[in-house]
Amino acid sequence: MDGFTVAIDGPAASGKGTISRAVAAHFGFAHLDTGLLYRAVAVKSLEGVGPLQAALALIASDLHAEGLRMPAVAQEASRVAAMPDVRAALVDFQRSFALRAGGAVLDGRDIGTVICPAAQVKLFVTASAEVRAQRRFAELSGTGHATNFEEVLADVQARDARDMGRADAPLRPAEDAVEVDTTEMAIDDAVAAVVALIESKR
Ligand code: C5P
Repeated sequence: MDGFTVAIDGPAASGKGTISRAVAAHFGFAHLDTGLLYRAVAVKSLEGVGPLQAALALIASDLHAEGLRMPAVAQEASRVAAMPDVRAALVDFQRSFALRAGGAVLDGRDIGTVICPAAQVKLFVTASAEVRAQRRFAELSGTGHATNFEEVLADVQARDARDMGRADAPLRPAEDAVEVDTTEMAIDDAVAAVVALIESKR
């Protein structure tokens, strides 16, 4: 099972995080939410640190920046994520994580296309922007963040456009990725389908 990699890409609130965590727990794989890398750089960038300097410092430290889930951090993350030098600084860390013994799940935007093009399983998880914004809105309301649905939808759409439109490692499915549309699918059914797919490739 050494070096068995599951690459899971998709836009914000598509369900890829939930699927990744469930799959990692099911198979005993390590899990890396690569969005946290860009969010950690974003927190530093909002504090005035240069994004490349923040990325280089990050891979030499642990990932415990505060407030990584806040909407302003998500927007800044997609800005710093468009910088090729920031992305380049984070590549080796992600690739070594993917090859660790015992298997790994990485989720993000460019895992199947750029970080792990040889991954044994590649998924592209999607859902309509409205459904994704509803999920994010419920999540934010649940944690006491004052917000409204229209604002969350606009944020999701702005981030989608930036992530899909950038020149370096844009968000798109790898040619050999299996697409999972969670718009009308219960998350447990999506997880079961993905577990079955991975079983068939092991
Ligand atoms: O997944 P999450 O919403 O935490 O990602 C935050 C931002 O980080 C994304 O909008 C995207 O711009 C960037 N990102 C990326 N490549 C990845 C993971 C995240 O560009 N592999």
